[in-house]
Amino acid sequence: MKNDTIDQIINLSDQIQDRRELHKLVGPLLEKMGNDPEFWTQLFEENLRDYKHLNREWSEFNIPFFYVFENNDFFIKVHIFPSLESKKTNILCSAIHHHNNYLLTSYAAHGSGYETFLFDYNPTTDPTTKSAKLKITKQFYQRDQRIHMVDSWQPHAVINPTSFSATLVFWTPDEKRSTDKLRSNKILKAFKIPIRKLIYLFKLENKYGIAAKETYQWYPNNGKFIGVLEEEFFAPTKAKTGKVVDEYSAQTLFYFMQEKGYRNIRFLENFLKDTNVPDYYKPFAKKLINNESIPETYAKPEINVPNKFILKEEIIEASKNS
Ligand SMILES: [Fe+2]
Repeated sequence: MKNDTIDQIINLSDQIQDRRELHKLVGPLLEKMGNDPEFWTQLFEENLRDYKHLNREWSEFNIPFFYVFENNDFFIKVHIFPSLESKKTNILCSAIHHHNNYLLTSYAAHGSGYETFLFDYNPTTDPTTKSAKLKITKQFYQRDQRIHMVDSWQPHAVINPTSFSATLVFWTPDEKRSTDKLRSNKILKAFKIPIRKLIYLFKLENKYGIAAKETYQWYPNNGKFIGVLEEEFFAPTKAKTGKVVDEYSAQTLFYFMQEKGYRNIRFLENFLKDTNVPDYYKPFAKKLINNESIPETYAKPEINVPNKFILKEEIIEASKNS
């Protein structure tokens, strides 16, 4: 989608080479956008017209999201974080992880927001025993710091929020690099191999700051941190696809639209008639039209770690022992 604020972000991104400087300036613009009711209406309708987005195969790996904007230099999305049905406030959404060479600025646009922990950069993970050392460097609640940046390679952890929440997120690589344009290169895409893998094959990963092949995530176990290879950790959740996950994702998007007060009946009636729209969205669109409440969705209570969940107290203890 396009609006004046996105144009402003595009101009800033073109003018400012230093990506961390750029992120500082974009934070308040995300806030401005998130506080504009027109933005949400336009966002929902553009996403509901986007057949590619509607027909995507959702997996449990995906945080339900709306697309805002994307070019070669950055992308903006809305990420949705439902709370746990139990309303517990000490369980992590996922394992401790980093985003490789990407910088992420979040604006807590809706709901309670989450609690988050940042860790020291460059944790060591023993490739044989998988034992790892990570030190917590910062803890805060989004409600106290609605705009914040997570640095590239910086491990972090997110606790499930106390109420259904959404963030506006701005992502860029930490440097403007020549490979950024490769990412949207149609000929390279035709290889059907992830660009990251191609770059790895050509052994360019250090030059271009693409993640080294071994990327770890971490979880606490008996007071110590253990590393697990990211691809192994994600494999089962990426494999969880199908009707239940599609319905869950559709319900989450529509529940959020309802919370934002969206109810353009004419638009929704056309959406219902549209045969390119997957059927599983339609019961929720009907509920919006009829002003019936869509049931809230909740975060998944279990993740792919041996104990099925990670407690905040456990990461604090393991950090002390690191
Ligand atoms: Fe993250």
